Formats: sequence, structure tokens, C-alpha cells
Amino acid sequence: MTRRRILVTGGAGYVGSHLVKVLLHQGNAVRVVDNLSTGSRANLAAFEGQDGFEFVEGDLLGSSIDDYLDGCGEVFHLAASQDVRTALTDTRSDVDQNIRATYRLLEAMRRTDTSRLGFASTSTVYGEARMVPTPEDYAPMAPLSLYGASKLAGEALISAFSHTFGLQAVVYRFANIVGGRATHGVVYDLFAKLQENREELEILGRRPGTRKSYVYVDDAIAGMLAAWEASQEGYEVYNVGTEDQINVEEVADAVSGALGLEGVRYRWTGGVDEGRGWRGDVRDMWLDIRRLKALGWRPYRSSHEAVGLAVKDLAEQNQAG
Ligand SMILES: NC(=O)c1ccc[n+]([C@@H]2O[C@H](COP(=O)([O-])OP(=O)(O)OC[C@H]3O[C@@H](n4cnc5c(N)ncnc54)[C@H](O)[C@@H]3O)[C@@H](O)[C@H]2O)c1
Repeated sequence: MTRRRILVTGGAGYVGSHLVKVLLHQGNAVRVVDNLSTGSRANLAAFEGQDGFEFVEGDLLGSSIDDYLDGCGEVFHLAASQDVRTALTDTRSDVDQNIRATYRLLEAMRRTDTSRLGFASTSTVYGEARMVPTPEDYAPMAPLSLYGASKLAGEALISAFSHTFGLQAVVYRFANIVGGRATHGVVYDLFAKLQENREELEILGRRPGTRKSYVYVDDAIAGMLAAWEASQEGYEVYNVGTEDQINVEEVADAVSGALGLEGVRYRWTGGVDEGRGWRGDVRDMWLDIRRLKALGWRPYRSSHEAVGLAVKDLAEQNQAG
């Protein structure tokens, strides 16, 4: 059997490096292209020198994009500007990194006849959905953040390339993904603050905070691959999350609990716009995951368990230096 060669954009990032590990473990050859803007070679250290693994430091907005695809039949596109708050001070980043970069990748795939694409999208494409849990065919989709808007634009481009040029594409709309190697997100933020001050914890927003769903990174990757293996032709969209949601206060309790801390004082900032952590923050997020579950996948950890495990992973990582 010939080994599949898969390109992972953003593979040096947090989620990407977990995906690379599983793809290599399955016996695939994997090429990572990453500009290391938020990712790191350290995330890939375990695979350096391993048969079938290749790292290319490169930018999807640069000129070598066709070369990155050379010999790859499949692409997982995770490279992105992923912080919802970036757009508060820089409105170009989401447009360049998430819309232009995705368009350039699609064009390169068309030119090089690369036919399969998996795309890391997000729950924020739904905006403040009136239906929760939110199914994939929910409408109207009205993102609150430029990040959500740029990912929705990426999805639209992929849909059009799929219908016009025969690309086979799977779009993953992720809930918050938590786990080791994270560099952003509420769990990472609260964990990092508690390393500095174990008595008082600043929390963005108004008590008890927004309600969201948190999926453990291993469950998220397993969900991606389940949909990937099942996908046939054309354009498919899957929510990837858990069967519950928790508020920020419960996240803070789970983070301090996993660190063995008691009596931490929470200091809420008050947030903006009726308790959102920041402008563009969604107050209530919970994805309907029945479509993905119908393929035999399920999330093994609840949101609460996922947060606890993520904190343990981050703590181990800190200790390892
Ligand atoms: N972490 C989550 O909770 C979450 C939730 C929903 C969706 N996602 C999506 O999953 C993907 C991975 O997110 P993550 O949390 O691992 O973030 P991350 O920042 O760790 O990973 C993104 C990677 O892309 C690289 N990159 C950025 N722009 C690039 C460019 N122009 N060319 C080449 N490489 C570039 C970065 O260096 C980084 O390694 C993103 O597309 C993100 O939008 C993440």
C-alpha cells in the first residue's frame, strides 16, 4: 500500500501538532508548513528526524505555495490568525491570514490538482445563535467577530471551489479546544494567571461569565479524522464539540481545582456589552454534534473533564520546562 502524503498548514501550532502526531502514528507521511508566528518547532520536536516527517518554514502568503503541495494529495488547513481579540486593534490580520491565505491555498490546490481539503473553522461562524445546541444548518449565520467572519468567508470560498472545481472538502466547526501546548483561550489564560498569583484570579467578564462548550484536543482530532475517513465527495460540514456547556466561573473552579487550589478569590472585570469578556465574544455557545456522532465518533470527555485534563497537561508541560 502506498503511504499517503499529507500537508498540514499550521502544523507547528497547538492543535496542528496534535494532529501531526496522530497522522504520523497512522503511518502517513506528513509535511508541515508553518511560519512560526504563533507556532513553535518545539511542538514538533518529537517527530524531527522521524521517517515520513518533514517541516518547511514557510508562509501561505509567500510565493512558494505550490511547492508546499508537491507530492501531497491531501491538506489539513489549520494555519490562521486564531485570536478573536486581535481584530480589536488590527482589522487586517483576520482578512489576510484567514481569507487571503485560504484563497491562495485553494488556488494552489487547483493549479496542482490537489483534491482533498480539511479546514479548521469555528463555532464563532454562528454568531450569537438563537438555537442552542446549534446544528450545522442553522441560519442566519451572523458572526460577531472579524475572526468568525473571516472563517465563514473561508468556508464560503471552499464551498465555491468544491462546487466549481471538484475539490473534496470537510469543514470542522470547533467548540473551544483545550489541552496541552495551548497558547491562548480562557483555560490557558486562567492557568497562566494562577501561576503568577494563586490567591486572586482576574476573570474577564461578569459573573458567572459566558457559557460555552470545551472539547479535549484528543477528542477533537479523533472527530476530525472520523469525518475525514467517512467523507465521500463534495463539501461537508461538521460541528466538533461536547454534549454540554459550562460557564466561565465553572471553568475557573475546574482550573483551580485541577491545580489543587482552594479559596482563590475571583475578581471579575465586568466585561463589555452585558457581560461578554470582550467585544465580539459570544455569550452562549453549544454545538449540536449529532451529525459527527452518527459516524460512530463521540467525545469521551465532558467540558468539565476536558478543562481538568487540559490543566494537568499544561502543568506537566510547565514542569518539563
Ligand atoms: N484552539 C481552539 O480552541 C480553536 C477553536 C476553533 C478553531 N480553531 C482553529 O484551529 C486552527 C489551529 O488553531 P490553534 O489553536 O492551534 O492556533 P495556533 O496559533 O497554535 O496555530 C496556528 C498555526 O498557524 C501558523 N500560521 C499562522 N499564519 C500562517 C501563515 N500565513 N503561513 C503559515 N503558517 C501560519 C502559526 O504559526 C501557528 O503555528 C486555527 O485555524 C484555528 O482558527 C482553534
